[in-house]
Amino acid sequence: MLSHLKEQPADKILMLMQAFREDPREDKIDLGVGVFRDAEGRTPIMAAVKEAEQRLWRAETTKSYTGLAGDPDYARALGDLILGDAVAPDRRAAIATPGGTGAVRQALELMRMAAPDARIWVSDPTWPNHLSIINHLSLGMQAYRYFDNATGHVDLDGMCADLAGMAQGDLVLLHGCCHNPTGANLTLGQWDKIADLIERTGAIPFIDIAYQGFGDGLDADAAGLRRLAARLPQMLIAASCSKNFGIYRERAGLLIAIAPDGDAAKRAQGTLSHLNRQNYSFPPDHGARLVTMVLTDDTLRADWQDELETMRQGMLSLRRQLADELRQRSNSDRFDFIADHRGMFSRLGATPDQVEAMRRDHGIYMVGDSRINIAGLNARTVPILAAAMIDAGL
Ligand code: LMR
Repeated sequence: MLSHLKEQPADKILMLMQAFREDPREDKIDLGVGVFRDAEGRTPIMAAVKEAEQRLWRAETTKSYTGLAGDPDYARALGDLILGDAVAPDRRAAIATPGGTGAVRQALELMRMAAPDARIWVSDPTWPNHLSIINHLSLGMQAYRYFDNATGHVDLDGMCADLAGMAQGDLVLLHGCCHNPTGANLTLGQWDKIADLIERTGAIPFIDIAYQGFGDGLDADAAGLRRLAARLPQMLIAASCSKNFGIYRERAGLLIAIAPDGDAAKRAQGTLSHLNRQNYSFPPDHGARLVTMVLTDDTLRADWQDELETMRQGMLSLRRQLADELRQRSNSDRFDFIADHRGMFSRLGATPDQVEAMRRDHGIYMVGDSRINIAGLNARTVPILAAAMIDAGL
């Protein structure tokens, strides 16, 4: 068996992490993988998370199994953070998952089980691992236009024209906020247009929200998703705590299924728990428990929100600095979209050759489609990137 295995395609983002590590240049700049960094280049443990860990260490008396769906308090607390009061709690089913990727995988497993002939519609472009998991599960996939390379903004007309082709029961994968890889997001009015289309076609929204709090704020980042949840009978949500709680390696995610009514939600709950059992039995608990502690303790929650807001403001400020720098150096406003984008990422619009030139000549690492991680920059490196972009011919 093992001697017949084929070489698997390498993940572009993980390959880039490796190449960066191996580059001996001291002044290299990592704008690759989506991990938050402060001005000193560190990925800190958030203070509220550290405090929760200390409390947990003192108070925890057992490491015995939780339930198959994980701790219900986690699903409630994180579900409330995401959904607010957009849907009645008895319409919600949820399972804890190993990270947001685990939630994406379980949602797609659910689709394969419940609607094997449906198609999943994905934005062009989307996070490469979405495509990889969809292919791995051999699901029918269809791309919809999303990003206008010329303007750096959402191509709403193209998106709506493509999504008008959705069939009843198809899934449409939307990024809740902070679109990865482009950084271009839907306005609330645009979310309403997409909701109209979903309602008209009978498709089912599947929202991946991995950066809540990194864009316009915790509630604003979930506002579009909440509009859909309040209006539509069914919806799936894959959420990650990696970024907004800074607990990447703890693998804390949540899959929420919103059902038309309480009875359907109970059946969905049973199915989701069954899927956990088939794939890994009990989900990891440590990160999920920290999140629950932070969200349900007023002091820890206020502290966490403050720190998250500081991180968000820092990324916004870097966006403005980079857009200003490029305005001066290019003598044009063609990079203003960087300040309009939200979240960790922006797609710069460089060709693969230009991306390669910036890596070769300046030690600047970004994903091949010219996605940069804004949080990889600081006040010193913003002008270096701007100069390298102009030098590469952007
Ligand atoms: C990213 O897009 O860089 C992150 O979501 C990390 C990953 O796993 O790809």
